[in-house]
Amino acid sequence: MKGNQRKTLVLSGDNVNAIVDRFGLNNLMDRLIAKLNQAIKTFDVNNTTIPIRSGFNYDNDNPGLIEWMPLYKKNEEVVIKVVGYHPKNPIKHSLPTILSTISSYDTTTGHLKGLVDGVLLTALRTGATSAVASKYLAQPDSSVLGLIGCGAQSITQLHALSRIFDFKKVLIYDVDTKATASFRDRSEMLDLSIEVIEASLDLIMKQSDIVCTATSIDVGEGPLFNNLELKSNIHINAVGSDFPGKTELPLQLLKKSIVVPDFLKQAVIEGECQQLETNDIGPDLVDLIQNYKNYDATKNSITVFDSTGWALEDQVVMDLFLELAIEFEIGLELDIENTSADAKNPYHYFLKKIEV
Ligand SMILES: NC(=O)c1ccc[n+]([C@@H]2O[C@H](COP(=O)([O-])OP(=O)(O)OC[C@H]3O[C@@H](n4cnc5c(N)ncnc54)[C@H](O)[C@@H]3O)[C@@H](O)[C@H]2O)c1
Repeated sequence: MKGNQRKTLVLSGDNVNAIVDRFGLNNLMDRLIAKLNQAIKTFDVNNTTIPIRSGFNYDNDNPGLIEWMPLYKKNEEVVIKVVGYHPKNPIKHSLPTILSTISSYDTTTGHLKGLVDGVLLTALRTGATSAVASKYLAQPDSSVLGLIGCGAQSITQLHALSRIFDFKKVLIYDVDTKATASFRDRSEMLDLSIEVIEASLDLIMKQSDIVCTATSIDVGEGPLFNNLELKSNIHINAVGSDFPGKTELPLQLLKKSIVVPDFLKQAVIEGECQQLETNDIGPDLVDLIQNYKNYDATKNSITVFDSTGWALEDQVVMDLFLELAIEFEIGLELDIENTSADAKNPYHYFLKKIEV
């Protein structure tokens, strides 16, 4: 399959799974981590414009939100992810909390080049971004991982981080005991020789070298815990805080930490950074990685990666899947756009029919 100028390459959930099967889950995660690291290292605001996301949120018997996350790469493409967050989905509709699709547009013509499932891609890129941040912020010999929130994102957090760190133990906690009980089975296919232990929040915070919080905590319900007994160089990936008023970590902990947001402008509205004054916020992820020589001592402090979700991550993961789809000839090429032979006549098709 070649990238056809008029066709849209569509990758359904099944196509995405087939690509992962063919390439290998670990290979894919490794490639994604490397590509994200590179994209952040070379990120240039003069070439790539990323506005903060926007959307609609609603409060009814199935509260949730639908947001759009756009990115413009100069002279190349516009990528837009549309993502829904409906925390009652798993129980009410047997669907994931996060449902999404990602589209890519050619900026020469406006043509829709690709349309791809964003459910697995979001989980993969969120895990991979925590791995990139942790590589720079956590102790390299980290051996105990704590997971608070054992939903869909927790699996890719474990997977991505275990590609970088040699964990011996993972301590898990969720308010929903069904989620903790099924975690072992859900993570089994990763084939990791890591002991999985259900633990209290206190124990997780005390014993972990790295913690990932990925909960669907409600607006105004945070923090998840108040205990500040933790290792002096613990690193935390705070993944679940991604909406105004929705935060996971206690302010006292943030104040003791070097807080690194993925995207500062968005994090001060939606992330853990909404709890902080500007002066209390550390470098953003781009600054940290691009100028790491200034920050390499951060590893010895308490560090927090404030992950709100950044459209650059969606562009990187989508481009990777489109690239692999073309290589493996997987996916469907569709003529979605109605481009008639006479560019000035949208009725051209009907005209031909009348003539015949
Ligand atoms: N930063 C990002 O880029 C990014 C990307 C995707 C999802 N997210 C966010 O990550 C969070 C998790 O997403 P998911 O897809 O795993 O959702 P999910 O519904 O599959 O899992 C969320 C889990 O959190 C648990 N939970 C809720 N409140 C809790 C609490 N107080 N303590 C412990 N556990 C609690 C729930 O029981 C559930 O098992 C959501 O808030 C989502 O918005 C962030």
